[in-house]
Amino acid sequence: MARCFVTRGLPGGALGRLSEAHDVEIWPGELPPPPEDLLAGARVAEGLLCLLTDQVDAALIDACPALRAISNYAVGTDNVDLHAAGARGIPVGHTPDVLTEATADMTFALLLAAARRLDEGAAAVRAGEWLPFGPGWLLGRDLSGATLGIVGMGRIGRAVARRAEGFSLRVVHSTRGSGLPLEELLQTSDFVSLHCPLTPETHHLIGERELRLMKSEAVLVNTARGPVVDTAALTRALHEGWIGGAALDVTDPEPLPPGHPLLDAPNLLVVPHLGSATHGARKAMADLAVDNLLAALDGRPMLHCVNPEALEQD
Ligand code: DGY
Repeated sequence: MARCFVTRGLPGGALGRLSEAHDVEIWPGELPPPPEDLLAGARVAEGLLCLLTDQVDAALIDACPALRAISNYAVGTDNVDLHAAGARGIPVGHTPDVLTEATADMTFALLLAAARRLDEGAAAVRAGEWLPFGPGWLLGRDLSGATLGIVGMGRIGRAVARRAEGFSLRVVHSTRGSGLPLEELLQTSDFVSLHCPLTPETHHLIGERELRLMKSEAVLVNTARGPVVDTAALTRALHEGWIGGAALDVTDPEPLPPGHPLLDAPNLLVVPHLGSATHGARKAMADLAVDNLLAALDGRPMLHCVNPEALEQD
């Protein structure tokens, strides 16, 4: 039996399975454990099951001498210092595939909502400002025949491209080393959707220069990670009309504090990191995160490990 620290209750019965096999402490709060509580829980653990809101950095890993498996309840692992984990031979698990369709659905929901101005229309109805049907009110953008530029044609990017076909969008992509150069994609797309992981290379991938390259009517959709976009540059781009709009599931910072300058920008739709937020996806993520941890604690390879080379170091 290994000691495990789990940083949040998870949907479904997955944590029950973990508790049958190991000595498990689950952080009881609805919100992430503060850093000192994360440290207190992880310090004595052999297995850590964490969320993308938990910073598992080199200092934390160093302070956990018994730690031998980290399982992230997310496909993205930018919250974990993979180098520090790898140097200790600690495998890091993640949860791809099971959230692909849910996240692609959310991408399309944002794209459609921005194109057809759903947020403004619904706000007008609630505010008692519903005008009688008229030819020029709240006109949006046609999807059919428009170009969707996908930045990062991985699992989720491909699932978005499949949906785009059904809406008669023309799809182009820019992916490390394949597809269009990013500049060309930005200059030619009516909708730009981000699906790359957050890494040092993709941090602020979309900044002032890139936003200025986009068409003045184009809509930026981000369901990847907030820091892929330079928030200050995006705020100016929306205020000054460099682009037509933005629809964001992720932001930097996240959550956006009330009164943040981005929230005043026109043609902006923001939802609170809901890409994988379906009952099915979240339960499947819990199962996979637990299966990854169980496997590693048993000395077996994780089902989905982002740093398999960590295990080759013995
Ligand atoms: C992830 O998994 O990385 C998403 O951002 C949340 O499900």
